Amino acid sequence: MEKFKALLVEKQGEEFSRRIVERSISDLPEGDLTVRVRYSSLNYKDALSATGHKGVTRKFPHTPGIDAAGEVVESASSAFSPGDEVIITGFDLGMNTAGGFGQYIRIPSGWAVKLPDGLSLRESMILGTAGFTAALSVRKLELVGVRPDDGEILVTGATGGVGSLAVGILARGGFRPVAATGKSDEADFLRSLGAVDVSGRDAVTEGADRPLMKERWAGAVDCVGGPMLAAALQATRYGGAVACCGMVASPEIRMTVFPFILRGVSLLGVDSVQCPMGERVEIWKRLAGPWKPEKLEDFADECTLEDLEDRIGKILEGRLKGRTLVDLK
Ligand SMILES: NC(=O)c1ccc[n+]([C@@H]2O[C@H](COP(=O)([O-])OP(=O)(O)OC[C@H]3O[C@@H](n4cnc5c(N)ncnc54)[C@H](OP(=O)(O)O)[C@@H]3O)[C@@H](O)[C@H]2O)c1
Repeated sequence: MEKFKALLVEKQGEEFSRRIVERSISDLPEGDLTVRVRYSSLNYKDALSATGHKGVTRKFPHTPGIDAAGEVVESASSAFSPGDEVIITGFDLGMNTAGGFGQYIRIPSGWAVKLPDGLSLRESMILGTAGFTAALSVRKLELVGVRPDDGEILVTGATGGVGSLAVGILARGGFRPVAATGKSDEADFLRSLGAVDVSGRDAVTEGADRPLMKERWAGAVDCVGGPMLAAALQATRYGGAVACCGMVASPEIRMTVFPFILRGVSLLGVDSVQCPMGERVEIWKRLAGPWKPEKLEDFADECTLEDLEDRIGKILEGRLKGRTLVDLK
């Protein structure tokens, strides 16, 4: 029985600890697709799982990793054959199903997307759930009619995984992204990704004590929730829209309904986890083609399973920038 390396999160009383262990394929859950994982990536949710957040993972010991890309080694599904290169993001991967922080995963084949032409396995995981979510957010804005020549698009949490890729994807799609960040020393990084302007968090929320702010944004991709999301909605122009995809600051918003009923602003929900397969495939095709950010490697900080402990602490403190690519080879 093939042995492989995985990060294992263990629970002792109310404490959680992480170590790299050797596992067997037989330790993996049931599933009709077995994949040798080449790359994964670190998302905020992985850090929550790795530190015992009950809203993400209920059963321990557990291997997190909501993202995985690799080759099929065994398939009981007619849709996949050994050797096929696949991407898996979302569904239950890394939540209560052993995830991409292990060199093998076994999953239902309905979770896998064939790697589209135009993307390598490595590139697919620089994007990962963050890139997929950013693209889904931009798609939602497009579907309600937000167009590149309508004006600037605010991106909050801009140096983070979803935020940085939203900046890159918007720029690639011809939009004018304005990056809002708490890291003033990362302005050059954000401009290099395609931001037309960089703003501090305080500048975005200034004046948000009024129910409506000066109309500024054609749209927004919000990764942080709380007061930033409220301010984004209050400053969105007539007929614009805000895609809400994250809540690192807060899951709560306090505001009036005025932006919705006086300016016709739309609040768009974004969920990457249960996104239906047809839409999933379409989004990955765009990420492999017209929306593939320029200089994708510039978004990535590469690490191994052994390096994850340090990165998990940093992402929870909002101190990482761009994407953390995990090499499992
Ligand atoms: N809806 C979905 O399907 C979906 C999918 C993926 C992720 N998400 C969610 O999206 C969010 C971002 O995920 P991620 O993986 O991109 O995380 P990340 O890499 O940690 O990025 C989050 C960024 O938000 C900013 N930030 C951190 N704490 C903040 C605070 N207290 N107030 C304001 N801004 C703060 C920081 O950027 P700056 O320093 O540049 O401001 C940070 O880098 C998370 O809530 C995650 O759960 C949702």
